[in-house]
Amino acid sequence: MRRRRFLETMAVGGLAALASPARGQSPVAAFARPLRLPGRRGLLAWTVVDRPLLLTAGIQREPILPGRTTDLWGYRDGHGAVNPVLRVRRGHTLDVTLQNRLGEDTTIHWHGLHVDERNDGSGLHPVAPNDVYVYRFAVRNRAGLYWYHAHPHHRTGAQIHQGLAGMLIVEDEEDDALRTQLDLTPGVTDLPLMIQDKAIDPLNRLRHGMGEEDWIGNRVFVNWTAQPFLDVATRLYRLRLLNASNARVYRLAFTLHGVPLPFHLIGTDCGLLGGPHTVSEVFLAPGQRADVLLDLALTRAGDEVLLTSLPYDPMENEPGAAVSEVHRHNPVPMGESLEILLLRVRARRVVPFKLPDRFSSLGAAPSLEHPVRRFRLHTDGMRWYINGINYHAHMHAAHVIVPRGAKEIWEITNDMQSMPHPMHLHGFQFRVIARSGSPAQVQALASAGGLTSQDLGLLDTVLVWPGETVRLALDFAHDFPGEQHYMFHCHNLEHEDQGMMLDVKVAG
Ligand code: C2O
Ligand code: CU
Ligand code: CU
Repeated sequence: MRRRRFLETMAVGGLAALASPARGQSPVAAFARPLRLPGRRGLLAWTVVDRPLLLTAGIQREPILPGRTTDLWGYRDGHGAVNPVLRVRRGHTLDVTLQNRLGEDTTIHWHGLHVDERNDGSGLHPVAPNDVYVYRFAVRNRAGLYWYHAHPHHRTGAQIHQGLAGMLIVEDEEDDALRTQLDLTPGVTDLPLMIQDKAIDPLNRLRHGMGEEDWIGNRVFVNWTAQPFLDVATRLYRLRLLNASNARVYRLAFTLHGVPLPFHLIGTDCGLLGGPHTVSEVFLAPGQRADVLLDLALTRAGDEVLLTSLPYDPMENEPGAAVSEVHRHNPVPMGESLEILLLRVRARRVVPFKLPDRFSSLGAAPSLEHPVRRFRLHTDGMRWYINGINYHAHMHAAHVIVPRGAKEIWEITNDMQSMPHPMHLHGFQFRVIARSGSPAQVQALASAGGLTSQDLGLLDTVLVWPGETVRLALDFAHDFPGEQHYMFHCHNLEHEDQGMMLDVKVAG
């Protein structure tokens, strides 16, 4: 059976304890490791990209858990940084040479950025073992938290699970202004947080099985820290959340004494929203980002605020989903609650601030008057398809041909007998203009028009739930010479690897 949904692990019960505090234990005891923050060297070191950079993909030994070191596949620079947090100014050139020291093909894909096919790092341009490849392009996109990761055909899920992913922060004047206004300091009160669940065995080895479905883990890491805590003051924090998990969707909330706190959603995948939106939870699917402001002014020293994933209905409605199978790594079931990061309020330090009601020139809502292209997401019980096409089963042909400069509406409909699919397009950012047929747990977050706060931003990945139809506005203007091929795929990496992907040719 193609499904791995581990029902008997649920029956055993308490397996969430692997990722969450054991029953009766206070969170303080369980969250024993300081959150890894970008530093000067090592995993996730800050790296300002103002000159050419060499990144070597290889295997590093990292002490990520007590006991044995873990073999992590990472991108290492010449100064000891592994999977550096890259910082680049909008308009500057990113010049990265990838050297492949793995025993298999790999790439670097610049998730969310507008680049030509040659620099896109998709499976169309694999870098063979011991080869080098130069990615060189101007960063044209707005400030925001983007990310980079491996993307070879069939092996994206395995390689990202092993570690080949990092964060990329684009900065510009608009973002600088907001930082100044809110007195935010990168690395102190403005923090990039990469959330990933991993399957780890008792010997601290990362395990990703070939040909598996929907790879979900038994532990959650933030910035490669398991059960992390962060000491905070009673002030404002900007947290930039990236879901770099293979397949897990989180329903993120900040709870104090079990009650969700309101927070401000200020940005999405591709930068700031027009203004802040006060919410108390946000669904974050693989590939997506959420930029949030959390005001701790009303908390007291000694309080503990938990970043959690609230329980939700995973809606795995597809045929075969209920087939149970024993699995060696006992993942926490999809949709079950997870405790992710403990914020320990320590110091009293109220910094008064005024949240501006407009902070970005996101622009008006796009016009609805463009040709509509329709996509249906479905399964036959064996494979996942987009419009009946499976990328690998259909010989990698270009199935969508878009004229350069076209403005289009893409309408994506997910079957009811399906599961949630985070759909991602390379090269072009988009806006969501309509969402209908949403399940109650999504409707609850939507305003009158059916759109959620996240839908109001600029995105590169959109979560489409079973039964939903989502409309996107796209603009295929670009000034790259000739025709360019991009991938449109599900960012559940196992779905992508198994061909839930289309080649989109933007004609020359
Ligand atoms: Cu995050 Cu096709 O990629
Ligand atoms: Cu991408
Ligand atoms: Cu999918």
